[in-house]
Amino acid sequence: MSVTIDLSGKTALVMGVANARSLGWAIAEPLLQAGCRVGFSYQGERLRGELEKLTAGREGTWIQQADATSEEDLTALFARVREEFGHLDYLVHSIAYAPRAAMEGRFIATTPEDWNTALNVSAYTLVSTARHAEPLLRPGGSIVSLTYHASQQVVPKYNVMGVAKAALEAATRYLAADLGKADVRVNTISAGAMRTVAARSIPGFSGLYDEAGRRAALGRHATPEEVGKLALFLLSDLGSGVTGQTVYVDAGANIMTMPLE
Ligand SMILES: NC(=O)c1ccc[n+]([C@@H]2O[C@H](COP(=O)([O-])OP(=O)(O)OC[C@H]3O[C@@H](n4cnc5c(N)ncnc54)[C@H](O)[C@@H]3O)[C@@H](O)[C@H]2O)c1
Repeated sequence: MSVTIDLSGKTALVMGVANARSLGWAIAEPLLQAGCRVGFSYQGERLRGELEKLTAGREGTWIQQADATSEEDLTALFARVREEFGHLDYLVHSIAYAPRAAMEGRFIATTPEDWNTALNVSAYTLVSTARHAEPLLRPGGSIVSLTYHASQQVVPKYNVMGVAKAALEAATRYLAADLGKADVRVNTISAGAMRTVAARSIPGFSGLYDEAGRRAALGRHATPEEVGKLALFLLSDLGSGVTGQTVYVDAGANIMTMPLE
């Protein structure tokens, strides 16, 4: 069987590309290669230059600043989507944040402020962006976000971010139920540890990264390109029939308790 993915005529919004290492960029690349038009949103003006460089000369792209926690920014962003595309096929949410202090100490010490920030930015924004996207999403549309296995098992120092990822995974199921009748699917990709800006802000990340590679069934780390390929599957018609799922791309690290030998 030969499968070619042609996404010309399709449109996507990718939220959360900080630089070329961002998982959001690894997802955008195959979309662009398949002919999809892609709009990008970035959190703050300091990230603008990087995204301008990445999208320079890429046909069908545009960029706009939007803090995902700001209703005003989201309203302006989705007005831009309507203006540029008229509709939306794919939404990629690649956003997470927790204050560093909440990841340095014990989980039991999490303050309400840090709890609210982490869950608001990392989980609630999936709900709010889906709500803004809903009127624009066409049948066959698809939403994808990024999660991590610390939602299911304790990963030292991941703390409140593990709780936020659990909320994101549950929100994925509830959104899938809400949007299913409109033939819009919602899934989340559970990616293995990868070296990105967000990952570097996790205390002890390099130990966690090494351990994941040692333990993985495939004997290596999964790559951002493999996240991109899974996202392409879940977003496109290849993934029709798949919704509400947390799908792992971690080279099998989550199925192992320790390396075989
Ligand atoms: N890198 C990993 O090991 C790994 C593993 C599993 C899941 N993930 C998830 O992948 C996603 C993308 O992270 P990444 O690793 O590519 O790092 P990254 O730093 O490249 O991307 C995180 C993005 O979130 C954005 N962001 C944070 N707060 C925001 C806000 N209020 N409004 C708008 N944007 C905001 C940042 O600007 C940045 O672009 C996150 O959900 C992360 O938890 C990462």
